[in-house]
Amino acid sequence: MGLLIKNGKVINADRSFNADVYCEDGKIVKVGHNIDIASDTEVIDAKGSYIMPGGIDPHTHMQLPFMGTEAIDDFESGTAAALAGGTTSIIDFVIPGADDSLLDAYKTWSDWASKSCCDYTFHVAVTKWTDNTAKEMETLVKEHGVNSFKHFMAYKGAMMCDDEVLYNSFEKAKELGAIVSIHAENGELVDRLQKKIKAAGITGPEGHPQSRPPEIEGEAANRGIQIALTVGVPLYVVHTSCIPALQAITRARTAGQTVYGEVLSQHLVIDESVYYNKDWRFAAHHVMSPPFRAKEHQAALWAGLKGGMLQTTATDNCTFCTEQKEMGKDDFTKIPNGTNGVEDRLSVIWEHGVNTGRLTPNEFVAVTSTNTAKIFNMYPKKGVIVEGADADIVVWDPNNTRTISAKTHRQKVDFNIYEGMECKGNAIYTISRGVVRYAKGELKAVSGSGKYFKRAPFSEDFKAMQRWYELNGPEKVSR
Ligand code: URP
Ligand code: ZN
Ligand code: ZN
Repeated sequence: MGLLIKNGKVINADRSFNADVYCEDGKIVKVGHNIDIASDTEVIDAKGSYIMPGGIDPHTHMQLPFMGTEAIDDFESGTAAALAGGTTSIIDFVIPGADDSLLDAYKTWSDWASKSCCDYTFHVAVTKWTDNTAKEMETLVKEHGVNSFKHFMAYKGAMMCDDEVLYNSFEKAKELGAIVSIHAENGELVDRLQKKIKAAGITGPEGHPQSRPPEIEGEAANRGIQIALTVGVPLYVVHTSCIPALQAITRARTAGQTVYGEVLSQHLVIDESVYYNKDWRFAAHHVMSPPFRAKEHQAALWAGLKGGMLQTTATDNCTFCTEQKEMGKDDFTKIPNGTNGVEDRLSVIWEHGVNTGRLTPNEFVAVTSTNTAKIFNMYPKKGVIVEGADADIVVWDPNNTRTISAKTHRQKVDFNIYEGMECKGNAIYTISRGVVRYAKGELKAVSGSGKYFKRAPFSEDFKAMQRWYELNGPEKVSR
């Protein structure tokens, strides 16, 4: 049975136009007017609403084993929540445990993710370098459709990479045509500051931002960028939260290097005052890395998004309930790091981006969907309303209003960092590969209906960077 969405306005990253959209067998089959349909076609009247590509969240951690516990939202509850908010694809991170190989970890994540309600794919984290790592990266690219490898420059003693691992992995990724990404915080400096702050008697959540100041992120972002330049591989900087990291990305981009920046919806709208709240539970629920920053960083991040220095918005969704956060009651370094976001990203970016005039609706689509699809080589299968694309669609009512609350959200976590935020502009229908999975408040998510999708290496941007590197080389690029 087909699905027709009629009377709406299609908003793509490049333009907007009035058209009906007809979907069949999971694909967008026709975009136009007066489309002939069979009598059993399901019809959605989108009058007054926008028809946009479903959101793609390039950064989630469903069910992640982390800091002695496990993220409470798994691939089922997390992806169901994503659909409720208009997100139709996620890119989650495969992160090997200390003794796991990359392929072991990939298998584990594949098993967990088989209960997903929306489509998904994986970045794979390289956390150590063994005799087998290069071969395993090759297998992941050639057999499993992985085209992105992640590197944590923080979390000393756990998944932190030193420069040797970064160099080895970046070299191999370049050979394979895969993009590399970094969590940019200098883990050694974080460790030193944590010890210093604890020695000064600080045990509460305020110690978290104090031990992770912006310069620690700026240093790591710049180092990762310079290593990527030395090797000649495209780089994606995840969760850019502050001016020094944004400046490092801006310098590299304006010098011609292929570097991308991601920003979290959280960092755009929440500032560091949350860590000084007298309610320990409230403050602890905001502990994530990098931490929330002083307000001037938010203004810079919005400008970076508008100005094209940052291309994507994500959530880093990694949720822990209060009793899990309480593992750090007497020591802020033991509070599991992470917050919610996957359900609310689109509404929050619309409210604070489009409704404030910071972003046009087309730019909104670019930063919530299309740019991610392009950077990770899944465009135009995802990220655009066009004939032949996957029928991943959000019908968006710019006048629909809702107030975000943990009492009503779909995630399992018992706290919402956006509690009480009123958002005008929300998903009213979410369609995943041609099937309505959310309709006007009713969630119809089905565990296991989400599909893994492969991503080919050597995107056009990757090939361009290779050519640029051959012609320019790192020594010819001034800083
Ligand atoms: O605090 C965070 N961000 N938790 C998830 C792991 C990571 O660093 O991305
Ligand atoms: Zn991170
Ligand atoms: Zn993360």
